[in-house]
Amino acid sequence: MIELNNVSFAYGDRPILTNVTFKIEQSESVVIMGPSGSGKSTILRLILGLNCPQRGSLLINGENICVMKEDQKREIRKGIGMVFQDGALFDSLTVGENVGYYLLEHTKMRWEEIEERVREMLGFVGLDADEIIDKLPEELSGGMQRRVAIGRALLSTNPRVMLYDEPTTGLDPQATETVLDLINKLTLQRKISTIVVTHEIADAFAVANRFMLIWEGELIFDGNVDQLRDSADGRVRSFLEPFRTSFNEVRERKFV
Ligand SMILES: Nc1ncnc2c1ncn2[C@@H]1O[C@H](COP(=O)(O)OP(=O)(O)OP(=O)(O)O)[C@@H](O)[C@H]1O
Ligand SMILES: [Mg+2]
Repeated sequence: MIELNNVSFAYGDRPILTNVTFKIEQSESVVIMGPSGSGKSTILRLILGLNCPQRGSLLINGENICVMKEDQKREIRKGIGMVFQDGALFDSLTVGENVGYYLLEHTKMRWEEIEERVREMLGFVGLDADEIIDKLPEELSGGMQRRVAIGRALLSTNPRVMLYDEPTTGLDPQATETVLDLINKLTLQRKISTIVVTHEIADAFAVANRFMLIWEGELIFDGNVDQLRDSADGRVRSFLEPFRTSFNEVRERKFV
């Protein structure tokens, strides 16, 4: 589904990613962790074809998005839903217009038809359509906004791949759990391949059993929870150190 082979990427002459290689299968869910500035969001931008690697190859369903024309790129992107780091809703549009944005802009469907799909989608992401469809994003809580953003990504594209960049940042524990449940529901019910970028190790354990650690642009770890805990790599250990307690608690809850 997603395959990176020895991918290196620089902004200008500043190297950001070096020789990153991994493969993600259909309906697999993985977490990318790493310190701030290590290159996590950059990996998602490459997968979306917003940037292209200077070296190595990146294939989505066996195809290299970087050699494509704009309209072919758009086709590929239709299969990828992205929830951006800041949630990124259009603040001057209503919730309904946000969720139906792609259909409004790119199809000839009438609003009545679109609204029906939007209402269904809001229900799917656990929101009350009657209550919020005509509201502006600023009138919603952070957790609700994040769910609207996920709904928008889903309705735009009917994706086979979902990318979430820090989906729970700034949310309280309740809202965090709802968003994580939604991510799991999508991965499992719709057989979507999922990449979640997060700083939060507890969130990581809740949505995946494969973990990657990016360190100064290099993929220094790719494995399961036991391998993660037992890693002898000093960089992996120092990244995990602040989380050791939650690491053990979460591990007991979920894996024992
Ligand atoms: N458009 C850009 N032009 C130049 N440098 C950039 C650009 N975007 C990001 N960078 C740099 O690339 C590096 C990696 O950024 P990236 O956003 O991938 O990090 P990240 O791991 O997602 O960090 P965070 O956890 O803070 O979101 C950073 O040093 C950043 O300053
Ligand atoms: Mg980032």
